[in-house]
Amino acid sequence: MRIFSGIQPTGDLHIGNYFGAIKQWLDFQHENECLFCIVDLHAITVPYDAKKLKERITEKTIIYLAAGLDPEKVIIFVQSRVKEHTELAWLLNTVTPLGELYRMTQFKDKAKKNKKNENAGLLNYPVLMAADILLYDTQVVPVGEDQNQHVELARTIGKKFNQTFGETFVLPKSKLPSFGARIMSLSDPKKKMSKSDPDEKSRISLFDSPKEIEKKIKSAVTDTQKTIKYDKEKKPGISNLLTIYSVFSGEKMEKVEKEMKGKSYKALKDAVSEITIASLEPFRRKREEFFSRDVYIEEILKQGEKRARTLAEAKMGEVRKKMGIS
Ligand code: TYM
Repeated sequence: MRIFSGIQPTGDLHIGNYFGAIKQWLDFQHENECLFCIVDLHAITVPYDAKKLKERITEKTIIYLAAGLDPEKVIIFVQSRVKEHTELAWLLNTVTPLGELYRMTQFKDKAKKNKKNENAGLLNYPVLMAADILLYDTQVVPVGEDQNQHVELARTIGKKFNQTFGETFVLPKSKLPSFGARIMSLSDPKKKMSKSDPDEKSRISLFDSPKEIEKKIKSAVTDTQKTIKYDKEKKPGISNLLTIYSVFSGEKMEKVEKEMKGKSYKALKDAVSEITIASLEPFRRKREEFFSRDVYIEEILKQGEKRARTLAEAKMGEVRKKMGIS
């Protein structure tokens, strides 16, 4: 199967990004054709530091490698280096109903948060994402829950194109993890954990030190009851901690609930801290390993770009022909 997914080079990646995206990618990399992209053109739709963008891209590449993605098996590349993404996005704009873009949850959220910079890129963001996906005849898109709506729209856009110009695109499906598709903020468990939350205590970053992890989990918001039980509506804080434990340990939720039954909230937090610190240790270690290897990282991105471009150029030839443009 052809798999495509991506992450924006903004902020510090957190355990939500890991559970929702990267952890799933690891499972796919052995028996599928995978492209994992660093989507810098999406990242510039909100205010950002242009001088730091390159550094952020290197950092995200290191995370992909530290997580265990094998550049011999998968294509790792930077979106802006393969120009076909922007070309296809423009062409897809012409078959995308405006109403679909206005109803996107993420657009509404981001437009509200960026009132001073409510730019057209923010609205067209899902069209570029559809281009990323459709360009490679992607069948499966492993993402967290918040991106599901965008993948659905990519499917709608692909279908509309096929109906208008003839069978061209494979219609993709999203793949969400059964647990961890929506990790919540530690400070406000009714909100999702997010890279852009100004409150650093709300998220556990993949490179946080053991001390930082312990402190953040200790201060995680729970509730005033005493029972440890998975109930997303009534006990969002406890349910979030149980989810984190379940995903890191690989144990089913029923088993985790049984294990934790009768224990104090402090004991639950200690257990979550311990498993999180141990699970993120390889990230911290491998980051050190890769940090001084700029040339190697650049070589991986160059190779990825070359391999991605070969596929993208072929597909764009077909698209241009179908649309009657040279
Ligand atoms: P981004 O960079 O916001 O997030 C990267 C991935 O992390 C997932 N995620 C979460 N999963 C669980 N719990 C959370 N709290 C959480 N927060 C984020 C996201 O669902 C995502 O899978 N638009 C995309 C990037 C993109 C893309 C693509 C993805 C651009 N083109 C094509 C797939 C295919 C985004 O902003 O991801």
